[in-house]
Amino acid sequence: VQRLQFKHEVRARLDGARRNGQRIGFVPTMGNLHAGHLKLVEVARQHADLVIASVFVNPTQFGPNEDFARYPRTLEADSTVLQAAGCDVLFAPSAQEMYPNELRTEISVGGLENVLCGAFRPGHFRGVATVVGKLFGIVRPDVAVFGRKDCQQLAVIEQMTRDLDLGVEIIGVDTVREADGLAMSSRNQYLDATQRQTARCIYTTMLQIRDRWATTTESVAHLEAFGREELTKAGYQVDYVVLRQSADLQALASQDQPATVLIAARLGATRLIDNLAL
Ligand code: PAF
Repeated sequence: VQRLQFKHEVRARLDGARRNGQRIGFVPTMGNLHAGHLKLVEVARQHADLVIASVFVNPTQFGPNEDFARYPRTLEADSTVLQAAGCDVLFAPSAQEMYPNELRTEISVGGLENVLCGAFRPGHFRGVATVVGKLFGIVRPDVAVFGRKDCQQLAVIEQMTRDLDLGVEIIGVDTVREADGLAMSSRNQYLDATQRQTARCIYTTMLQIRDRWATTTESVAHLEAFGREELTKAGYQVDYVVLRQSADLQALASQDQPATVLIAARLGATRLIDNLAL
């Protein structure tokens, strides 16, 4: 994998590829790559001739009391697994390279950025949308691939790409899970052995909600309360358990609409999120 650190190198490399008629597939990440990320690279490969991944722990999407400082940074290992996965280019810029000057322009996706995770992480989605907008400007991909685990992030990026006519095809990829159902995440490694046992409860709770959604006439509010209770009993501090329209994450108007359950809950200092189509 060709490792590049500077924007001008990425532009030069990809302009060459574009002139040769190559379709460019992009996988933005914050590094510490696991099997979920490798699936994104695999899907990008299926849709593009050249695959570029970025590794950048973006400071502007972390709140003041969040885990920016301790977020795992494993660039050498990431580079090795990207090489093995058949990724062509790795863009790993410094914060100075991405934010050389004070940023006066930010992308704010109305209606989506302050709900759900946005309500608990003020400024988070603005940071995500802005950095992804910048990365799209540097890479100018034909297609970009994101995990469905970050369901609200995917919705934000789809909306931004449509609204700003960025001309990038956005592809969502299903969540890769551990054997016990826990969604793969770099944050799982913050969990101690006991918390790791408890962590699976998010998945089992979503499965129970899916079953009950299919087989009973329980109300949305009732199923949400059930999920919250299960997780609280297991030792979680619950941020939210909600059932929403799959299409736009707005409130469900009827039981017949395609629905998704979304969960965010904390075990100690570790915040986990997950979702499942019902
Ligand atoms: O999902 C992530 O890893 C990040 O939020 C992203 C999309 C790379 C933006 O920093």
